[in-house]
Amino acid sequence: MKNLTEGNITEAVIEAIKGTKDPRAKEVMSSLIRHLHAFVKDVRLTQAEWEAAIEYLYDTGQITGPTRNEFVLTSDTLGISSLVDIINSNPDGGTEASVLGPFYIEGSKMVEIGANLIGDSEGEPTVVSGTVRTLGGDPIEGAIIDLWQTAANGLYENQDPDQPENNLRFRMRTNKDGYYQFTTIKPVSYKVPTDGPVGRMLDLQGRHAWRPSHLHYKVSADGHRNLITEVFDEGDEYIEEDSVFGVRQSLTVPYNLVTSEEEAEKYGVASPFHRVEFDFELETL
Ligand SMILES: [Fe+2]
Repeated sequence: MKNLTEGNITEAVIEAIKGTKDPRAKEVMSSLIRHLHAFVKDVRLTQAEWEAAIEYLYDTGQITGPTRNEFVLTSDTLGISSLVDIINSNPDGGTEASVLGPFYIEGSKMVEIGANLIGDSEGEPTVVSGTVRTLGGDPIEGAIIDLWQTAANGLYENQDPDQPENNLRFRMRTNKDGYYQFTTIKPVSYKVPTDGPVGRMLDLQGRHAWRPSHLHYKVSADGHRNLITEVFDEGDEYIEEDSVFGVRQSLTVPYNLVTSEEEAEKYGVASPFHRVEFDFELETL
């Protein structure tokens, strides 16, 4: 029997997983084990600290369910989600990716181009439009724009029993010009949920939980790489200090205030309203 020590335990674990058949899984797990062991040695982790980490993971599992994923939020608030986005972004260009966040739901209702999502929602009317194109600039017809955003109270529909199902979320197909357009309310800056383990962590780190106003998008089209991203209000007070590190300069846009009655009539909204334009570029596979 080998006498395990601080000096040889890492290699013993690496040896134990040598039968991992998938070469990529072996590479990832070996590196993870090496880094975790190095971390434990580096900080001289105490028994109490190890227990606190296990408790954090336990609580994260307990609070996670179909409409809330505290693991995703942990990854987001530690900058890991964004780091994965950044290292996997296309070096040849295209729209930058940003965090999925914990509030996406698959299968939102399909709506037509020009849909008005406002319904009974309070907030500042906003008309959003743009195109989906290839990196070469060709319009992509039939791309699916999947959008979700907060209501004026800073909550997503699936966080808030007072909002109707599918409120402020939808899917839309682009037309032959790759065009999409919808009318909504301006999303507001909001705090990520702080009533779970992530809230305790942010407190410990002396950080706030705010995210700048943003629209979440999933954009997909046959033969193209799926894009998950966010489009931010460049004037938001938290634009420089997003608690989940999702902001990229290329994803910030102005919310231009339009006061013309004629323009308001054209889009069927009350004046004044905000006008936002954003074009997506997808990598061809
Ligand atoms: Fe969000």
